Amino acid sequence: MNIRSIKDFSDKQHLIFVASTKAQLKEIGFSKSEMDYVNSKWEKDSNNNIAVNQYNRWIFVLSFKKSDSALLLEAARKAGSKINDKLNAEKATGVNIVGDSDFSLAIAEGVILSNYQFLKYFKDADKKENSLKEVAIVGASKKAITELESVTSGVLKARDLINEPLSYLTAEQLAADVKSMSKEAGFKVEVLNKKKIESLKMGGLLAVNKGSIDPPTFSILEWKPEKAKNKHPIVLVGKGVVYDTGGLSLKPTKNSMDFMKSDMSGAAAVAGAIYAIAKAKLNVHVIGLIPATDNRPSGNAYAPGDVIKMYNGLTVEVLNTDAEGRMLLADALAYAQKYKPELVIDLATLTGAAAAAIGEYGIVAMGNLEGVKWQKLEQSGNNVYERLVRFPFWDEYGDLMKSKIADLKNIGGPYAGSITAGKFLENFTDYPWIHLDIAGPAFLHSKTSYKGQGGTGVGVRLLFDFIKNN
Ligand code: BES
Ligand code: ZN
Ligand code: ZN
Repeated sequence: MNIRSIKDFSDKQHLIFVASTKAQLKEIGFSKSEMDYVNSKWEKDSNNNIAVNQYNRWIFVLSFKKSDSALLLEAARKAGSKINDKLNAEKATGVNIVGDSDFSLAIAEGVILSNYQFLKYFKDADKKENSLKEVAIVGASKKAITELESVTSGVLKARDLINEPLSYLTAEQLAADVKSMSKEAGFKVEVLNKKKIESLKMGGLLAVNKGSIDPPTFSILEWKPEKAKNKHPIVLVGKGVVYDTGGLSLKPTKNSMDFMKSDMSGAAAVAGAIYAIAKAKLNVHVIGLIPATDNRPSGNAYAPGDVIKMYNGLTVEVLNTDAEGRMLLADALAYAQKYKPELVIDLATLTGAAAAAIGEYGIVAMGNLEGVKWQKLEQSGNNVYERLVRFPFWDEYGDLMKSKIADLKNIGGPYAGSITAGKFLENFTDYPWIHLDIAGPAFLHSKTSYKGQGGTGVGVRLLFDFIKNN
C-alpha cells in the first residue's frame, strides 16, 4: 500500500472527510440535495457515519464526539476498516483522507491494516487481491507518514510470519526471514545455530528441540542508532515456537493444535517492532532475542520427568512438555542479562490460561516493572488499543513452581496458570522486566475489524508506541 501526504483532496478520488462541526462540510462542495441528505443524517445518526455516493466516487463523512481519546481513536480505526471493505467491494484503487490529523492518521491505519491479505497459497491469488493501493492524507507531516508507514508495515510483516505454516516456517526459515527484514529496514541480525546454542548450553531451548527433525535457532536483532537516547538497551524477547504440538504431552488437534503455527507470535511481534523502529529510525537502542524451534513428540523428544539444566545453571523438572515456551524463554531471558538492559519486555503466546482469563481483548502483563515506565507502557497499550491487564505476582505463586528433585518444575497447580508461568520466568531475570502473555489476542479465528483474521501482529504497535514515547 502506498501511503502519502497531499496538499489538497481531489474531486475525482474517493474521500473520507473528518468533520468536528457541520460548518466544515462546506469545504466538500456538496450539491444542495446532497447537503440536505447529510444534514438530515447529521442530526439523526449519533455516530455521524454518513456515506454519499456521487457518480464517480464515495464520500464518507465521519465525526467523532468528544469523549475518551483512546476510544475515539479506536473508533476511527474501525471506521477505516469498514470503509476499506466498502472501497474494495467497489474496486476502488485509492482514497483521500482529510480532517483532524490524529483522526485522519487513525482512519488511515485502520484502512491499511484492514487491507492486509495472506494470499501466498492461492492458485488465483491475483484475482483475490484487493484493489485498494493508495491512501493519501491531506496535510500529514513527513514524520507522521514515516511513522505510519513504518509501524503498519511492521504489523503486516509480523502477520505474514504468523500466518506461514510450519511446512514453510521452520526455526531456520524464521531466522532467514528475520534476516531479510533486517536488510530491508537496516538493523543487524546474528543467528546462532544449533552448534553455537549447544556450546552456550541453552538447555531449555535444546530440550524442546530434541523431538524435532529441524535444528533450533537463536536470533539476535539489534537496532543501535548513533545518537541513541538510552545508555543501556531495551531488550525484547519473543517466544519463537514455530509449531507447538505439545510434544509427548500431545495436544488434541481440534481447536488447539490446529492453529499452533501461531505459537511464534511473540517472535513475530519482536521482529515486526524492531523492523518498524529501524524503518522509522527511532533514536533508541533496542535488542531483540528470538529463541526458536518447533515442539514435537518423537523417539528422542524430551519427556515428562526429565531434569534439564538451563543456560543460567538452574535445573528444571519437566512435568508437561506442552509447557515448552517457558523453557526457551528462560534461556533467552537469562541471556539478556549480559546486555545490562534498562528494561526487558518478553512477549509470548505462553498460556491458554491468559486467553481464558481475558479473551482476545487484551494482553496479560506481569513482572517487577513499576512507576513511570509501567505507566507509560500501560498508556501505550491504551493509545494503540492493545490494552494491558496487570495480574498479581505474589510470592505464593512462585512457591507452586518448586520441585521435589530440581530447582524448579515447569508447571504449577490447576489455577492461575499464566501467573505461575510468569513466576517461573522470573527466576531467569535480574533487571527491570515485564512479561506479556499474548495468547488471547495473537491469532483470531474470524475477521475482526482491522485486526483481520489469523495472525494479528499484536505487540508491534504497542512496542513501537512505547519506544517512540520513551
Ligand atoms: N502455546 C501454548 C499456549 C497457548 C494456548 C497459546 C492457546 C495460544 C492459545 C503453550 O505452550 C501451552 O501449551 N501452555 C500450556 C501450559 C500448561 C501445560 C501448564 C497451557 O496453557 O495449557
Ligand atoms: Zn505448549
Ligand atoms: Zn506453546
